Amino acid sequence: MKVSVLTSFLHELLCCPGLMDNEDIGVMMQGSSMVKVRSSRWQKSRSLRLLEDGLTVWCESTKRSSKAKSQQTFAITEVECVREGCQSEALRRLSGSVPDNQCFTVVFSGARKSLDLRCHSADEAQRWVRGLRFLKHQVASMTQKEKLDQYPAGINFQYNRDGKMTYDEVKRLLQMINIDLSEQYSRNLFKRCDRSGDGRLDHSEIEGFCRELMRRPELDAVFRHYSSSGSVLSIAELRDFLGDQGEDASLKHAQSLILAYELNDWAQKNKFMTQNGFAMYMLSLENDVFNPSHARVYQDMRRPLAHYFISSSHNTYLTKDQVTSASSTEPYIRALNQGCRCVELDCWDGDKGEPVIYHGHTLTSKVPFKEVIETISQYAFKASPYPLILSLENHCSVEQQAVMAKYLCTILGKKLLSTPLSDLLLEELPSPEVHTLKCTRAHTHFFKALRLSEKHLQTTFHPELSALVVYCRSVPFRGFENARKLPPEEMSSFSECEAVKLIKDSGKLFVRHNSRQLSRIYPSGQRLQSSNYDPQEMWNCGCQMVALNFQTPGEQMDLNQGRFLPNGRCGYVLKPSFLCSSTSNFNPENTGGGPGHTPTQLTIRIISAQQLPKINTEKASSIVDPQVWVEIHGVAIDSAKNKTHRIDNNGFNPRWDCTLSFQLQVPELALVRFVVEDHDHTAKNDFVGQFTVPFTSLRTGYRHVHLLKADGSSLSPATLFIHGSILTQIEAKPSWISLSCNHEAHETH
Ligand SMILES: *[C@@H]1O[C@H](CO)[C@@H](O)[C@H](O)[C@H]1NC(C)=O
Repeated sequence: MKVSVLTSFLHELLCCPGLMDNEDIGVMMQGSSMVKVRSSRWQKSRSLRLLEDGLTVWCESTKRSSKAKSQQTFAITEVECVREGCQSEALRRLSGSVPDNQCFTVVFSGARKSLDLRCHSADEAQRWVRGLRFLKHQVASMTQKEKLDQYPAGINFQYNRDGKMTYDEVKRLLQMINIDLSEQYSRNLFKRCDRSGDGRLDHSEIEGFCRELMRRPELDAVFRHYSSSGSVLSIAELRDFLGDQGEDASLKHAQSLILAYELNDWAQKNKFMTQNGFAMYMLSLENDVFNPSHARVYQDMRRPLAHYFISSSHNTYLTKDQVTSASSTEPYIRALNQGCRCVELDCWDGDKGEPVIYHGHTLTSKVPFKEVIETISQYAFKASPYPLILSLENHCSVEQQAVMAKYLCTILGKKLLSTPLSDLLLEELPSPEVHTLKCTRAHTHFFKALRLSEKHLQTTFHPELSALVVYCRSVPFRGFENARKLPPEEMSSFSECEAVKLIKDSGKLFVRHNSRQLSRIYPSGQRLQSSNYDPQEMWNCGCQMVALNFQTPGEQMDLNQGRFLPNGRCGYVLKPSFLCSSTSNFNPENTGGGPGHTPTQLTIRIISAQQLPKINTEKASSIVDPQVWVEIHGVAIDSAKNKTHRIDNNGFNPRWDCTLSFQLQVPELALVRFVVEDHDHTAKNDFVGQFTVPFTSLRTGYRHVHLLKADGSSLSPATLFIHGSILTQIEAKPSWISLSCNHEAHETH
């Protein structure tokens, strides 16, 4: 019986009260009293304790009187990193008044606010920092099988002698083997299975719980299609399945999957995959719709900078809108951790000779230039080893520019590129790899707000700061003809409206320009709420730095995240070849063929979804009525979307079996976005989750799509189950030649 393996495993977990060897973990489980810090005024006592599962930390208010539920938890799996000492903004402001070695910060992935804590001794802080890092490492580095074999041995479970399990115990143990449960469904299911009604499940009740939980008839159907026995897949049968999936169809690969994902000892020994093992494999990242071989840096990194799309952020210092929100160093950390390679610093004169960063002439708060540079120095190359471009928007007096130059040199030190990489005058920009430079490229902008003539510029621009700008010197754009004569290290910035006009009027010339020189696009100043424009339109024309408000979630940031998902999320993605040649005839507005046009049919069958959460909990009905959109974002003629029908009242396992087909002309530029919505009869549909993947990184066959929240963090355990297929038509269409000529005539107007 397939579930019995899992249930006996759960029992083993419960019944292995091995003592903790790790002293740090021991201290964490005993609990520590600390101070949670938000500012110098807001400091509150908290007691923190690691639960017996080794995965959850409770953070409890020590004052019993507080009426609100003042208990919070976080899971080790949510922790992005732990920073020692006073490194966060709030703690830095306190440094001097609190001992640095008693403080630490827990940073979470996604939008969750980080947690600043102060312990009563340095030793205690050390133990928590080490312990949290240890647990995080353990959880992250173990395969399924290792989690089963090793993890429990290290943890002292408080178990119930009668062998019954509470809801929390069941849930955490399942989490350990990567069966994540949504609260809403698992609680209901638990209640249904708890026939004795005592809030705990006995052996047979757990079995029922697991059976219900693992039920995936549509997945079983795939399994049975390949299994001759109906109960297991042999290595050869698994290999056949892998072949149909378009993957390494070797016996060796099939065998390695059995070793990694099969939970049943007997099956593993005899080289079989059971239905449960198959479900585990199918839900793993190894079987994700996003090609895992693109998850590392796999592209040629020795091409000139102009041949890459470069992940770029606008007004990086803002936490929200550009009129009233706070400026902070936190968004720099978030952007850099996401692989962003061009951050913006809006610099103004501050008090006491200290330059500050904020959105000029608005109510946004200010953050010292020095703090931002310190933060950048620390995080610049954590997520990506490739060059970082600092876009300095300089509004400072000559005096404070000298201060800026001093900070850039002293804080960034050798990381800052302050001399050209070569003495020769080059025809091309250097590549991202010219020595994984460990360098920062400064890049200054002068905006028409400033109204500086170039002559005026030289006198008001401090020579020490100006000397630091080696590549990416910003110059006003005076037409493509003129730009061709400029050295490649000079670049231009365009507002979104200017860029759109150039794309419409002279797309081909813009493409050619962008094969050699960098273009930075920024949002219109009218976007007071810091909303974003469509970046795809700019990428279609080969613009490299398509700067977006990273702090504003939505479709545009989803596209940015999808665009830079491949190539190890390093922030540089190679443009298609037709965007990298100075004689290219590619024009994103062309409809009749030409370079880059490879007529392709993409067919996606949306089969089912798993554990979709209810997003809008204020609404009367607590269950989702889901529908799924598939969107193509590419050149104008490829842009399309279509949706499945709606399924009422089922977010746990809705099933559509709905096939959507798309005709693509320029697949190399296309992004495919899956969006799940909760249908609303009276108002706008609610966004539930999405995932965006470049067409070139999308895998065909049966795949799971792991959905993301609006802020880009994981919506686990919510997934879509799909089948994808791609048909490429190889025949050439001769009719494109005349159409392309028409466009040429149009462009030279
Ligand atoms: C959308 O998909 C449905 C279902 O496959 C299909 O009948 C319909 O024609 C499609 N609509 C468009 C605009 O492609």
